[in-house]
Amino acid sequence: MLGSATGPRIGITGLGTHVPERVLTNDELARIVDTSDEWIRERTGIRERRVAAEEEALTDIALPAARAALADAGVPAAEIDLLICATVTPDMMFPTSSALLADALGMPKAAAYDLLAGCTGFVYALAQAYGMLASGLSRCALVVGGDVLSKILDWDDRSTLVLFGDGAGAVVMEAVDHGGFLGFELGADGGGGEHLWLPGSGSRRFENPNGYVKMNGREVFKFATRIMVYSAEQILSECGKTVADVDVYIPHQANKRIIDYAADKLGIPLGKTVVNVDRYGNTSSGSIPLALTDARAEGRLRDGALVLMTGMGAGLTWGSSLIEWTTNGRAT
Ligand code: UT7
Repeated sequence: MLGSATGPRIGITGLGTHVPERVLTNDELARIVDTSDEWIRERTGIRERRVAAEEEALTDIALPAARAALADAGVPAAEIDLLICATVTPDMMFPTSSALLADALGMPKAAAYDLLAGCTGFVYALAQAYGMLASGLSRCALVVGGDVLSKILDWDDRSTLVLFGDGAGAVVMEAVDHGGFLGFELGADGGGGEHLWLPGSGSRRFENPNGYVKMNGREVFKFATRIMVYSAEQILSECGKTVADVDVYIPHQANKRIIDYAADKLGIPLGKTVVNVDRYGNTSSGSIPLALTDARAEGRLRDGALVLMTGMGAGLTWGSSLIEWTTNGRAT
């Protein structure tokens, strides 16, 4: 799916994140599996990640992120009429985590549902909320992206254990008087689904009850380096922009080598690229909102900045979004 925005201007007016308190370092992982700080840093760029406590599930970390986003936007929870939660680690399959969040936040008029698109979930959810807002179905949306992958990892499997972390982010989306989303490119290739999967997690449970994340790292790496470049080029061309127009590049934070490759191939200087995989690892649906928040904290999200976000992950799925950042631009 590829398209540029033609309807009313829809932007992001609030941003919030939350990560669990517990920091897990590479050295600590090296005491659990046969790995080393040196290997992890060289092959992935990751130095540490956050992991949820035993009794912490997705909504426990998503709730503070959602509250922060609402406060940032200055929007009362009761005004939200759409809540989409992108995650592959909901508290449980149902009730949905979005319904639980809407209840906890006090959103009686919100439609709420979870969205499952691997690590690309957040970008997919932005596109969905954009469509609902631009069509007039929704007036004010909350998009949450978060995962607690530590709960579905095999803590004996070094090939996946060292890569992931837990975290969540949320954005408020509504009409803006300038800037806003310019377009989206989204895709999926189930043919590559076998390279990153969670056995025993659905109605095929009978084949492998209580499975953990499995990944063919080299295949996902090849896919990632190709698709991050393809998707970004597609959306830029669709929106009549060039790489030189991009002020802030927010790639999915899976592996520093993938980020470097994509930025280099696209011709985006590393100075414009947001990198925080060193501190959080791959937080799946939390990755892009966490990076957005870091970009803002570093003063990079000035009014009018062209922000390119690209995600990729299980499915295999991918997606890009282009937005002209708006500060204080809520339409009246
Ligand atoms: O959101 C999308 C999610 N996934 C990704 O983006 C992952 C994409 N893939 C990757 O990032 C990389 O493929 C990895 C970081 C997973 C692996 O890096 P690599 O450079 O492709 O390593 P490799 O799989 O080719 O393995 C190289 C060696 C192997 O040993 P041999 O066969 O050469 O003796 C592995 O057994 O490294 C070994 N290895 C490790 N050694 C220490 C694999 N994992 C580890 C580890 N610690 N954690």
